[in-house]
Amino acid sequence: SNKSLLILPGDGIGPEAMAEVRRIVGWMEENRAVAFDVDEDLVGGASIDEHGIPITDAVVEKAQNVDAVLLGAVGGPKWDDLDFSIKPERGLLRLRKDLQLFANLRPAVCFDALVDASSLKPELVSGLDIMIVRELTGGVYFGEPRGIEDLGNGVRRGINTQVYTTPEIHRVARVAFELAKKRGNRVCSSEKANVMESGVLWREEVTHIQQTEFPDVELSHMYADNAAMQLVRAPKQFDVIVTDNLFGDILSDCAAMLTGSLGMLPSASLGDVDETGRRKALYEPVHGSAPDISGQNLANPIATILSYAMALRYSFDMGDEADLVEGAVEKVLASGVRTGDIMATGMTQVSTTEMGDAILKE
Ligand code: NAI
Ligand code: MG
Repeated sequence: SNKSLLILPGDGIGPEAMAEVRRIVGWMEENRAVAFDVDEDLVGGASIDEHGIPITDAVVEKAQNVDAVLLGAVGGPKWDDLDFSIKPERGLLRLRKDLQLFANLRPAVCFDALVDASSLKPELVSGLDIMIVRELTGGVYFGEPRGIEDLGNGVRRGINTQVYTTPEIHRVARVAFELAKKRGNRVCSSEKANVMESGVLWREEVTHIQQTEFPDVELSHMYADNAAMQLVRAPKQFDVIVTDNLFGDILSDCAAMLTGSLGMLPSASLGDVDETGRRKALYEPVHGSAPDISGQNLANPIATILSYAMALRYSFDMGDEADLVEGAVEKVLASGVRTGDIMATGMTQVSTTEMGDAILKE
């Protein structure tokens, strides 16, 4: 049976970037005999306008039953005044929650043509290719108890709880080790075992999974504060980094800036494997709906296109096709074609659709 892909363009520049992906999907169907069942539906503000809610049960149901979901971006000023419970962002949160997407993959790849856009010296980032795996559904953002207490006498106390169970650690560790096997075969696990009980457990359990299931993958451990420092000092020492929700939030944003613009950054969020062997998966650019430039054919579609490449690689097992897409992006950048966000002197500024043209041509 055909592989199935659900496309949710969303709002703002989401649909503009996704239109370029649709063209690449079409090209692959024609030229590489890659046949997908592609469905498209509404999420975010677009769904609010049509149905009054940011995602319908029917769309969630579809998302549960495809090989991969590809999402553009949600949100925008039009829906800013809505109650939190029906804001566009809730559509995305519900998808992540209902699909139980516990592993967030954030690659930090430095394209040679963009080394000058990095915050670091070219020699530190040239050839950089790291993958941060962030636990996404547990830890301090969700732990109980939580809340703000009034202690009397004008004193209040804010409480969050960092909690991890062994199954939560095991499943995200497995994702990281599996990924490492397809890359440089090295995992660095990051926590603060020196000051946190959950960090001690994290370190023990990641080590346990490595010893019992992935003896051939090299495992190292690094305190998260040191990892932040090392990411900026010598980022190429890393292959795969696996870490919890809080540290992963910070380390992945830090790593993102090693490589330049928000318009270049893809991501994947993975869940469990079901009875049919299919892993739940949502792919999306890191950026939002960019209302400041939406509707003007200015957005950089590369983050969304690279998210599609990740879907090819991780959900469809089509590494060659993913290489093809990523290689085309690399060549286009090397030829000096740039959208405004990655523009530099001596380069040619192009629109969203012209960037799509150039990538298709390559
Ligand atoms: P944003 O990522 O949309 O934009 C931040 C800045 O980066 C803007 O100046 C924008 O023009 C630029 N930018 C982002 N992506 C770009 C691209 N592909 N090409 C060229 N320039 C790009 O974040 P912001 O402004 O904080 O949020 C705007 C809206 O997006 C809000 O409604 C927010 O809630 C939503 N949002 C949605 C996300 C999602 O769908 N996953 C993530 C982040 C924000
Ligand atoms: Mg963040």
